[in-house]
Amino acid sequence: MPGEPADVVMFGPKPIIEEALTKAGLRLHKAWAAPDQDAFIASVAPKVRAIAAVAGHGPVDGALMARFPKLEIVSSFGVGYDHIDAKWAGQHGVVVTNTPDVLNEEVADTALGLLLSTVRELPQAERYLRAGNWPKHGDYQLTPSLRDRTAGIVGMGRIGKAIARRLDAMQVPVVYHTRRPTDVPYRHYPNLVDMARDADVLIVITPGGAATKDLVNAEVLKALGPDGILINVARGSVVDEPALIKALRDKTILSAGLDVFVDEPNVPAELMAMENVVLLPHVGSASEPTRRAMDTLVADNIIAWFSGKGPITPVPETPVRK
Ligand code: NAP
Ligand code: 8YV
Repeated sequence: MPGEPADVVMFGPKPIIEEALTKAGLRLHKAWAAPDQDAFIASVAPKVRAIAAVAGHGPVDGALMARFPKLEIVSSFGVGYDHIDAKWAGQHGVVVTNTPDVLNEEVADTALGLLLSTVRELPQAERYLRAGNWPKHGDYQLTPSLRDRTAGIVGMGRIGKAIARRLDAMQVPVVYHTRRPTDVPYRHYPNLVDMARDADVLIVITPGGAATKDLVNAEVLKALGPDGILINVARGSVVDEPALIKALRDKTILSAGLDVFVDEPNVPAELMAMENVVLLPHVGSASEPTRRAMDTLVADNIIAWFSGKGPITPVPETPVRK
């Protein structure tokens, strides 16, 4: 890498990223390891040119980015970057990158696993077996079925399309809702309530953030109806969580499978106590190979940037300059 090594700050440990950046000759500052993080940031801020960001270690907002006067790039882990103020970055000449595509198939696999688990009550059936109920009480109860259901996908981007392909193979009819129709052979609904009325399952896979906050609200859940199933693998913020809890409690929808929550890692006690939900701790992309690919892309974006090649996967809100 040409010239003086560039300074990169990280707010949480990620061994693969740390190793790749160090190997590339970059100077890494491990903020999480400092006893006083604030004082540490103040001491390194004047020279930092890159942030390697990991969701879950707090938002990367304008106030944080403004502390680094020489900041050029924020390389974020994950395809969703609702924890980063990309608009602020764009307005201040800072590039933001994310990790798209490398996780599409993994997240789609998880979504289908969660869908089948929820419809066919697989975790509940396993709990029944492990509790010794099979020999004592006989067969587990019959469950609802994925057969004869239409799946409405909310968000038909990279991951939405991978989910739809799997549903095609399972002979489940697909329809979708986005703001603009896209290049897929499924029926597009410009109105989510209309789609919820016609579908039997909603699978949510949009970005988070202000534009999608509470997109799945009480009205959508009412339209989904008492036989309807909600799967959320997007962000907790996309579903009005209190409205969902009420709909599940009142049985105005049948069940839900959730990988994401509003206040992670805290999950509402009401959901924890319900039998008609399947809850996962945000594991959509969390396999070893996929997380390795995501880590590598975080590091590669920074390395490409400081090699003068430009970012590999910049987000649309930020400028691409070398
Ligand atoms: P993408 O390719 O950008 O697709 C996003 C889709 O959402 C597009 O079809 C977009 O269409 C639609 N959309 C955006 N805003 C919308 C709105 N206000 N109303 C309706 N539809 C809207 O993104 P992706 O790579 O598929 O990833 C999607 C999201 O999945 C990520 O941002 C992240 O939040 C989530 N995710 C979760 C996990 C997990 O572990 N659970 C893992 C990976 C990703 P229009 O722009 O036409 O509306
Ligand atoms: C990550 C995700 O688990 O890519 C995303 O948007 O939600 C997941 O793949 C998450 O970013 C880790 O915090």
